[in-house]
Amino acid sequence: MSEKKSPLWHGRFAEGPDAEAVAFETSIHIDERLAQDDIRGSVAHAGMLGASGIIPGSEAAAIVAELKKIASELETGSLKIDPAAEDIHSFVEGVLTDRLGDAGRKVHTGRSRNDQIALDERLHLRRVVPLMRESIVDLVEALVTIAEGHTETLMPGYTHLQRAQPVTLAHHLAAWCWQLVRDHGRLGDALKRMDFMPLGSGALAGSGLPLDRERVARELGFSALTPNSLDAVSDRDYCIELAADLSILMMHLSRFCEELVIWSTEEFKFVEMSEKWSTGSSIMPQKKNPDYAELIRGRSGMVFGNLVALLTMMKGLPLSYDRDMQDDKTSLFAAWDTAASSLRIFTRMISTASWNEDRMAAACTGGHANATDLADYLVRKGMPFRTAHGVAAAVVRECIEGGIRDMTELPFERMKKHSSLIAEDVYALLSPEACMRARDLPGGPNPERVKAQLAELKGRIAAARAEKQ
Ligand code: ARG
Repeated sequence: MSEKKSPLWHGRFAEGPDAEAVAFETSIHIDERLAQDDIRGSVAHAGMLGASGIIPGSEAAAIVAELKKIASELETGSLKIDPAAEDIHSFVEGVLTDRLGDAGRKVHTGRSRNDQIALDERLHLRRVVPLMRESIVDLVEALVTIAEGHTETLMPGYTHLQRAQPVTLAHHLAAWCWQLVRDHGRLGDALKRMDFMPLGSGALAGSGLPLDRERVARELGFSALTPNSLDAVSDRDYCIELAADLSILMMHLSRFCEELVIWSTEEFKFVEMSEKWSTGSSIMPQKKNPDYAELIRGRSGMVFGNLVALLTMMKGLPLSYDRDMQDDKTSLFAAWDTAASSLRIFTRMISTASWNEDRMAAACTGGHANATDLADYLVRKGMPFRTAHGVAAAVVRECIEGGIRDMTELPFERMKKHSSLIAEDVYALLSPEACMRARDLPGGPNPERVKAQLAELKGRIAAARAEKQ
């Protein structure tokens, strides 16, 4: 540990800080991630100070040049972040001042760390949120690719985890795609809501110096200025919104993982994770466990926890800045890292899984998943649906009591006793494939309908890839 230097602004304190207390309040180990964003903000600020005549143009130019140098030195590793600095802002300002003397002492003119951190976080998120969105698109693309090969692959659709009605694997995977498309949209919305430039809000009450806020906003690519200085330094809505968005994303991944875990069992055996994405057991030689799916499922809880930590941190804070808020980054970055790694791993895992078409098709018979189709058949012949539901239920009951696995195995003589409207053509309509094809509405499992969905998803993927954030 390098020795703690008193920050540049501790002039009024006679006593140096206690080591444990310093360790307690320091955030450099977390906010060092913002180094490049912090410098970018300072470059824009210093340029503006010079252009507005608040500091001499030559000094502003020296500050900008040195800041850029610091940025590239940090990038190459020739300059190391000092863990003894209090936070990233004081580290950068300290290096600048060591190198430039009085000119360096001018960089913080008209600025507070309170508006600086609000800027840094936004700059950082505007840089990394598009990467997370790209990872979501990668996953949607991987799922669409799998789905395209399985528009005819029958599988049971479930409600209450009971076989309900036949669908296809493509239909099922496309369902997940749409949930991910909404996750992608939510992150895009969050970016729009944080598109406000906070610098010039100072500690809380702005500045009496003639800062050119518009210029800074323009240079940094923001569409608007934060409209209220108190709000600007005390708002962490964007962190909470992102943690909420990531929580919803993780909830989706977790549900999907739960299915993969269930589908990997000997009982289901619909899917098999590749060896690379499975682990063995230290005692049971036969085991091939879907651990990655389980870990992602479990880690969703950590992201929800980060969201709750952020909400709880903020809920009692009076305006404006309160130091509690420093820890927003701990929760946000933890949520970020968990979601980012989960997304990447999930995509690689699902892309290499193999699908057992025979097992999925076999599971479509034996659960009377065609009972609704028998009712629909009678409805087409004029029977009221509620009556038809009763007839189909009676057929199911007779099958169960007689040990008949599927109503297509019930002889016609017995079938027709349930309704005079039942003719022999009913059997052709009760096969899982016929049931699946009959569901030919937009959004349904009929292969043509699913192909249309996949085409729509591919359009969304192409649009997302073309979109420049
Ligand atoms: N590192 C601090 C944070 O993240 C910066 C603001 C510190 N402001 C203060 N008044 N102590 O919140």
